[in-house]
Amino acid sequence: MTTYRIALIPGDGIGAEVLPPARQVLDAVGRRHGFGFAYTSYDWSCERYARAGAMMPADGLDQLRDKDAILLGAVGYPGVADHVSLWGLLIPIRRGFRQYVNLRPIRVFDGVDSPVRAAVAGEVDFVVVRENVEGEYSEIGGRLNRGFPDEMAVQESVFTRAGITRVLDYAFHLAADRRGRLTSATKSNGIVHTLPFWDELVAERGAAHPDVTWDQEHVDALAAKIVLDPARFDVVVASNLFGDILSDLAAAVAGSIGIAPAANLNPERDFPSMFEPVHGSAPDIAGRGVANPLGAIWSAALMLDHLGHAEAAADVTDAIAAVLAKTDLRTPDLGGTATTAEFTDKLLDLL
Ligand code: NAI
Ligand code: MG
Repeated sequence: MTTYRIALIPGDGIGAEVLPPARQVLDAVGRRHGFGFAYTSYDWSCERYARAGAMMPADGLDQLRDKDAILLGAVGYPGVADHVSLWGLLIPIRRGFRQYVNLRPIRVFDGVDSPVRAAVAGEVDFVVVRENVEGEYSEIGGRLNRGFPDEMAVQESVFTRAGITRVLDYAFHLAADRRGRLTSATKSNGIVHTLPFWDELVAERGAAHPDVTWDQEHVDALAAKIVLDPARFDVVVASNLFGDILSDLAAAVAGSIGIAPAANLNPERDFPSMFEPVHGSAPDIAGRGVANPLGAIWSAALMLDHLGHAEAAADVTDAIAAVLAKTDLRTPDLGGTATTAEFTDKLLDLL
């Protein structure tokens, strides 16, 4: 029997409440399909930062390197600045393991009311492919004249031919495997160096993928269209910052940010990939046992897909669809009163 080595990083807040359900689902679906998981847990978090002065140990990446995948809850908590927790854990993993694709699918499931009238269940099914290691999230820049009236901050974006090309190729391949449509998020009217370059490379890669119909939209107009007509999208490809914003918007269109999953992929498989719900640590509801576990469970399904178990992954997304369509059980973010554990038990029954 194949046993996959999985690193579990629950992180902060509800991260620790949504990973156990994901693990229960993985174990159940693995038993059925004849593979298993060996988990190693890491306490890397804001709590560790408060205790030890770092989100993770100096050799953190080396501890993860031999794993088949990483499953992460959420990091960030009041008391530690968000840029400290993000740059101390998530971003080093994404960059150190060259997880240059951030894949964020959304679906409007039957039984979930979207706040958007145009978002009809079964019709909205698209994926945001976010560039995950360069772009606007750069370390180049600085602060000058701190505390003086002429204080200033400069931050440079970094867009490279290699970095853009590889994420575009991933997105075009994905579109070819889906409904054959790709939309690129740009803003080349206002951002006059990096995004015209992005657009040129989209046209170049588009010509290399004649099986995909593609177009581009300025990101502001695209945001409006995701709200007004979400069913028209198949694959949306975007830079690091645009992809981050559009995928949260898309998750909200799907009914709750608690459902949305994400995969940080190293497509070459030189390094482990990392799977995590889109949501954060939700300090406002942490500790009450009412977090929606679906974002973490769907992320576990993306992990199964990446490990080559597409059927097992489909079993999990089918169980998610079934628990929402066939039962009235909901966590409070979806208008119900179920606890995380009650909701997970029902999903396991249906799996
Ligand atoms: P958040 O996603 O933690 O919460 C936003 C709102 O959505 C809250 O009202 C929360 O209760 C609700 N929510 C989120 N996930 C939910 C779930 N599974 N079930 C039910 N309700 C859910 O975003 P926020 O408040 O901006 O950030 C809180 C902390 O999380 C910050 O420290 C932030 O830096 C961190 N964060 C970490 C992320 C990560 O680890 N990838 C991503 C986003 C935020
Ligand atoms: Mg985000």
